[in-house]
Amino acid sequence: MASLSLTQIRGSNSVTEFTRLRLKTQRGRGKTGFLKVVGSQGQNQGEPDLSVTVNGLHMPNPFVIGSGPPGTNYTVMKRAFDEGWGAVIAKTVSLDAAKVINVTPRYARLRAGANGSAKGQIIGWENIELISDRPLETMLKEFKQLKEEYPDRILIASIMEEYNKAAWEELIDRVEQTGIDALEINFSCPHGMPERKMGAAVGQDCALLEEVCGWINAKATVPVWAKMTPNITDITQPARVSLKSGCEGVAAINTIMSVMGINLKTLRPEPCVEGYSTPGGYSSKAVHPIALGKVMNIAKMMKSEFDSEQYSLSGIGGVETGSDAAEFILVGANTVQVCTGVMMHGYGLVKKLCDELKDFMKMHNFSSIEDFRGASLEYFTTHTDLVRRQQEAIQQRKAIKKGLQSDKDWTGDGFVKETESMHQPGPGGANVLRQSQSMGSAMPMQQQPQPQPQPPQEASYEQPNGGPNGDGKGTIIDTMARAFVAGAPQQVGQMVV
Ligand SMILES: Cc1cc2nc3c(=O)[nH]c(=O)nc-3n(C[C@H](O)[C@H](O)[C@H](O)COP(=O)(O)O)c2cc1C
Repeated sequence: MASLSLTQIRGSNSVTEFTRLRLKTQRGRGKTGFLKVVGSQGQNQGEPDLSVTVNGLHMPNPFVIGSGPPGTNYTVMKRAFDEGWGAVIAKTVSLDAAKVINVTPRYARLRAGANGSAKGQIIGWENIELISDRPLETMLKEFKQLKEEYPDRILIASIMEEYNKAAWEELIDRVEQTGIDALEINFSCPHGMPERKMGAAVGQDCALLEEVCGWINAKATVPVWAKMTPNITDITQPARVSLKSGCEGVAAINTIMSVMGINLKTLRPEPCVEGYSTPGGYSSKAVHPIALGKVMNIAKMMKSEFDSEQYSLSGIGGVETGSDAAEFILVGANTVQVCTGVMMHGYGLVKKLCDELKDFMKMHNFSSIEDFRGASLEYFTTHTDLVRRQQEAIQQRKAIKKGLQSDKDWTGDGFVKETESMHQPGPGGANVLRQSQSMGSAMPMQQQPQPQPQPPQEASYEQPNGGPNGDGKGTIIDTMARAFVAGAPQQVGQMVV
């Protein structure tokens, strides 16, 4: 699959320098072609190779610091490189930081514990933080220093400007002079900036987006990723426009527009600033399934409409484990960004992410990221197709005269026995409410069984990461889910499910 292997280009001073030169030349010719997105082919036999090369940028692993507090100054970005992050995306900068005025408090958190307790682990995080309020000159000096100290590591600047061609050109020019390796364009900040026709105001308007992407790509000499807002009906539309307008990659998602809650004593919304609030951006574990859905949709679109080897996709949203990252890669992401996860668990999280991703790869005998990137995409289809497949499967079961085919077949006697016949796992344990995250039950893709009737068996259900409290105990819903997948009516509190 590799079109340009790392060994081919190692002879030059650095991969980054080589690829930047290539990209510059290509852009100079009017962007007639791009370096392909490749994965290194298993260098160390036995140990999975986590390294990736996207848009010509080589990273030791696919884990990228997402734009936000973890990339806000020199000290923390240096820390990220030292801890081993594959790349760092700095906090978004604009020309005039004096216009960026933050408030306090600007964060609110959602906790979830056993039985709905609000004292458990943080699962959702809302922020009304703006882009960087540090002077651009200061940020640029720090980018330059980082690139001097870490010439072979990937530093990506996140930028945002008003609807003004000259302003975008000036910002790109000044940021590129620091030696950064790529640009991520923040078309997605949901609060504050849209009031100035910035961020999500551009990402939600495809005509505006096309025009602004045109300005950016005519000026930029390094790869450009467009960061998408999820606060739109069909995220594939702005993603398509960005790629058609010259961007080399898409990153998704930024935060989801939200109101964290209302204080029931004061009747004031949270986070509460002088008695008032404004909708903010939601992130962390709770957004992961939404992000996965959006990234899957973009990946499908890219696969069918673009040469996916030449464009890259960066998955973002609620990543805290190697399994979360594997899911993004399985639906087509080349890299995986983490923001809130780093704020909660620190920069050392990258080691756990790498170890867990390697464990997953070993389980399936995958030697490189490209070995499994996008492997789950083909299992997404339409609801109509699911109905067709299920009807076929029912016909097969009918043929062997086993199990209930529809609601009319319930007799009212022996529900336990009758439900058992409904729990024959399809390929990948399809009858489980929430797909088991248990790596122990996983099987290499190539070795998955073909759909065929199997004896009734208890389906496995494991709360990811040991339950929301990390104690292996789930919530009422988890208990209900377990009862359901075990095929047994069970009393939960006052409810019988
Ligand atoms: C406090 C905070 C500040 C953020 N600031 C930025 C920003 O300046 N630019 C940007 O593109 N995204 C910003 N984000 C969005 C994150 O990069 C990311 O897209 C989002 O939080 C989802 O990923 P996560 O669940 O890993 O945090 C911010 C997120 C948080 C929580």
